[in-house]
This record gives sequence, structure tokens and C-alpha cells, in this order.
Amino acid sequence: MIRTILTYPNPELKKKSAPVSSITDSIRQLAADMAETMYDAPGIGLAAPQIGVHQAVIVIDISGKNEPPELIVAVNPVITHAEGDAFEEEGCLSVPSYAANVKRHARVTVKALDLSGAEQEWDAEGLLAIAFQHEIDHLEGRLFVDHLSPLKREIFQRKARKAAEEKR
Ligand code: NI
Repeated sequence: MIRTILTYPNPELKKKSAPVSSITDSIRQLAADMAETMYDAPGIGLAAPQIGVHQAVIVIDISGKNEPPELIVAVNPVITHAEGDAFEEEGCLSVPSYAANVKRHARVTVKALDLSGAEQEWDAEGLLAIAFQHEIDHLEGRLFVDHLSPLKREIFQRKARKAAEEKR
């Protein structure tokens, strides 16, 4: 089922997610809904808090339009190693019509559970490394705009307020 994606400044996006204690049918359903919602948007990643669920589940698929889908579902993801610097443009389904360059690590190792409860590990670089960091941030209640310099952040907030006023 396609779920509604919450957008900035919805306070649900600032709440921390709890670790999943066991992989149940409801967690599998959550992951399926998240994947469907991400592909529908379309986007390359989605974290559970973006649909108002505060459980540590993320989905990522960075495969291109003309490639077969490569869905990653990561439950309780943790970055166990990070190195190098990246500074790439990011966007977010919860922050529509805004993109900015964000400082990240260039390479990360991520450990998580899959939907069978087995431990998985990824050595990620490039876009996948950035996607992992971006989605794991969501589980901590952080958005990519929280990484901006104070000045850039202020410009973003001003734009967002203006857009919200125009919607009214
Ligand atoms: Ni995002």
C-alpha cells in the first residue's frame, strides 16, 4: 500500500526511531509499503519515520531507470565504519523542491538485519554510501538540511516558510 510521505516541517520527522525487536509480519508489511511508496514517488530511499512510523527500517534502491530494481531493506541499520569525504547534492522526498550539497563520508560499512532476521553487511561507496547515511539520519530525526551551514539553512527555512504561506 502506498503511504503518505510526511514533509518538512512535520514534527514526526524529528523523532527518533526505536530499534525493531523482532521481524514480524507487520515489519515485513511495513517494508513492503515503504518500497512501494518509494518506487511510486519515485525516490532512491525512504525511512520509516517519513511515513510516520518510528521503527528503524530503511529501504534503498539506487539502480537506474533502465536497470532491474535492486531493493535493499535494512532493519536496525548501523554504520560500523566510515571514511573519506563526499560533498554531493542531495534531495529528500520529505523536503520537496529543494536540493543542496551535503558533507558526508565517502565510504561506509553498514550492518543491519534483513527481513529474514539475518545479519547483512554492506561496504558502500558513492551514491549508495550517501543514501545509507541520509536514510540512517532519518532514523535519528535528522534531515539533510540539518547538515547545512547556518546561512544556507536560514535561506532554506525562509524558502520553506514562503512556500507554506503560498499554499494557504
Ligand atoms: Ni530523505
